Amino acid sequence: MGILPWRSRDVIDPRDFTREDLEILFEEADKMRRQLSSGRVARTLEGKIIATAFFEPSTRTRLSFEAAAKRLGADVIGFSAEEATSVAKGESFVDTIRMLDGYADLIVIRHKYEGAAALAAEVARVPVINGGDGSQHHPTQAMLDLYTVRELFGSVDGLNYLIVGDLKYARTVASLLRALSLFKPASVMLSAPPQLQLRDEVRRDVESRGLRLEYVKLEEGLSRADVIYVTRIQRERFPDPQEYEKVRGSYRITRRLLEAYAKGSAKVLHPLPRVDELAADVDSTSYQAYFLQASLGVPLRMALLNLILGGEAS
Ligand code: NCD
Repeated sequence: MGILPWRSRDVIDPRDFTREDLEILFEEADKMRRQLSSGRVARTLEGKIIATAFFEPSTRTRLSFEAAAKRLGADVIGFSAEEATSVAKGESFVDTIRMLDGYADLIVIRHKYEGAAALAAEVARVPVINGGDGSQHHPTQAMLDLYTVRELFGSVDGLNYLIVGDLKYARTVASLLRALSLFKPASVMLSAPPQLQLRDEVRRDVESRGLRLEYVKLEEGLSRADVIYVTRIQRERFPDPQEYEKVRGSYRITRRLLEAYAKGSAKVLHPLPRVDELAADVDSTSYQAYFLQASLGVPLRMALLNLILGGEAS
């Protein structure tokens, strides 16, 4: 088996991956971290070009992919706003992808439309990585989330997970649940305002994959959880801004709340950016693990690029 299952692969939907695929990825990410901390990173992707096509805003996903590519010796081209491309002149999405396919060895794409990355993968001959498509998938974030859990707890299995917030529109939640269904969590608890509950199609899908979901009150979830995964209300996905106003500020994880209810060993993860759902006073507590999570994005994405593009020293 080795690393071959990853070679030239598209990364579109977390359901395309097995537990073994993720374990190979995590081991490769460990290797990348060792190289980064020793200051000797093998430039296995020298001569390759990675295109980042971000039709939607991003800080961490785009920049960690770009940092990862550059650490491995690749060059990066791309854009981070649709207005900066010929799409603004009326060029079609498919034509834009065709161009990038001719310019680069791999394309990382983010788009507000669900299915955009899958369409890009159909058009492009080079591998395509989905950096987020609407509220559907964000597979590399889910890989990073589980890699962070493994780093913090030594394993993804056997833990109690609480997912808090916008379960309806956050693609990170849908992808995390799908990735978790490959493992053996002790429990998966959900806590959300009534308007932001998990969409039926996601609930049915993950339950059919054997994940048992528990709907809990926030305080109960906090008291049982090892991993507390907080998400931002996805304001930009609300069809009606007034609906957003109704749920705005409806939950907020603070130091006081954690100290009152959470286990001392619990860790708070958040894909970031945060707005007001996660107070800054959590930053200096032992619960805070979201900055580690963000920083692991570079080695995790180095591992992905290396496995997919077949970097020699891997
Ligand atoms: C997330 C996203 O874009 O879905 N951000 C990220 O990639 N870390 C989460 C969010 O925007 O709330």
